[in-house]
Amino acid sequence: MAKVTQHLGFSAQDVAQAADLLRAGDCVAFPTETVYGLGADARNGLAVAAIYEAKGRPSFNPLIIHVADANSARAFGQWSDTAQSLADAFWPGPLSLVLPLVPNAGLSELVTAGLPSVAIRVPAGDLAQGLLRSFDGPVAAPSANPSGKISPTTAEHVLAGLTGKIAAVLDGGACAVGLESTIVGLTDAPTLLRAGGVPREAIEEVLGAPLHDPIAGDITAPGQLSSHYAPNAHIRLNASSWEAGEKTLGFGQMECDLNLSESGDLSQAAARLFGHLHALDAREGDRIAVAPIPEAGLGAAINDRLRRAAAPR
Ligand code: TXA
Ligand code: MG
Repeated sequence: MAKVTQHLGFSAQDVAQAADLLRAGDCVAFPTETVYGLGADARNGLAVAAIYEAKGRPSFNPLIIHVADANSARAFGQWSDTAQSLADAFWPGPLSLVLPLVPNAGLSELVTAGLPSVAIRVPAGDLAQGLLRSFDGPVAAPSANPSGKISPTTAEHVLAGLTGKIAAVLDGGACAVGLESTIVGLTDAPTLLRAGGVPREAIEEVLGAPLHDPIAGDITAPGQLSSHYAPNAHIRLNASSWEAGEKTLGFGQMECDLNLSESGDLSQAAARLFGHLHALDAREGDRIAVAPIPEAGLGAAINDRLRRAAAPR
């Protein structure tokens, strides 16, 4: 059934209205510093189910819960010294921690997909923080895009994909980081489950030790489907020159249709990545070529998203 999707602004009244919608069991999209999330009350199974329904998402995929601060996180994830040091260093910010689930914490089983662990994040940004404080509870939120499509970094992206399927979107403009959070698993030795907005190197510096990589084929990071973030166009990576008929995405000084960063700045490239993919996809033509991106720092997460966008589907 089609709903009216409200386009809310960033006033205190808009934030309070969004929190009321969450309390009523509705889905509300909101900006974080990474991407727009599609939020619902993580304790309300029907509300969480509505997220899956709006996104058309396979339901074996567990969701990240968002809380206002580390203190609130401890109610849901079993805390440790390692969790504390990472929270001190990176929260609020683009890092999610997978922790052993606190028994009877009140989360819907749909959020954890029945796993004995939970992914938790404290997002930055005035609107995200305002919404979480006003709502005063855990908000489950995957990226606010139809399943398998490019993640949204503006309210317009959200509305293009989910109008008629969600109650509202809070419009906070473009996301500053532009890539989803880095996910670190702490149910065992610290493991990098997903590259993202905090570079691996920065986390390893805080830990004073290298992160482990997930064992191939392990189900600890379900939902890492290889074809993801997919534009409609076919994507060619590491293009050292452009071919006729290609829409071109550059990096550094070069001629191209859109440039991730003329100066070769990886933070700028991350912030522009999904927006440029959305924009190129909307143009005429069915092929996109992308210049090589260095693998260091945020480049690892950018290349991860590009490989998924290019994967056969
Ligand atoms: O930046 C972000 O993280 C954004 C914003 C909205 O916060 N959210 C986001 O959520 O990217 P989503 O649902 O698109 O990605 C959640 C990821 C999935 O890869 C999922 O498998 C993993 O988190 N995940 C969630 N719970 C987990 C758990 N208990 N164990 C392992 N992985 C988990
Ligand atoms: Mg997503």
